[in-house]
Amino acid sequence: MLTKKTREAILELQKKYPEKRSALIPALHIAQAEIGYLPSEVQNEVAGLFAIDPNEVNAVVTFYDMFFEKPVGKHLLHVCKNLSCMLRGSDHLVERLCQRLQIAPGETTSDGEFTLIPSECLGACDKAPMMLIDDKVVGPIFESDIEHLLEEAKKSPGHPSPIKIEEDNDA
Ligand code: FES
Repeated sequence: MLTKKTREAILELQKKYPEKRSALIPALHIAQAEIGYLPSEVQNEVAGLFAIDPNEVNAVVTFYDMFFEKPVGKHLLHVCKNLSCMLRGSDHLVERLCQRLQIAPGETTSDGEFTLIPSECLGACDKAPMMLIDDKVVGPIFESDIEHLLEEAKKSPGHPSPIKIEEDNDA
């Protein structure tokens, strides 16, 4: 269940758009920020706030790799696997990260620190092969960089929500 504060923030957000359903993506960010992911109960609740079919919400949640239906790690490693990065070794990078973290692509480490997410182009092709570590663009990445990057990531507070209730109220 979403908190009253989150529900109210989503309803306020809807008022900023001519069509309230246009607020769905930012609303899902706000909802996800509450517990870190969007289980079906939360998706249904958001659908209720928008008076739309829960399947529509689920279609959005499953389309974008910034939304999660299950708990994820404290840190997100989005590794680009698109053309420029692939040509410069992103497959190998994913393989090395999987070995180092002892997980398969899409999985979370047993200590809950990292989730590895192979992604489509992240818009930083000039840094190929690159990844987004939480909200930080990093690249080009060499195998020898991996250990340092993971250690640095661990020092950060984790992946932030791009939209926060406080920011929304100030807007
Ligand atoms: S192809 Fe990797 S960032 Fe564009």
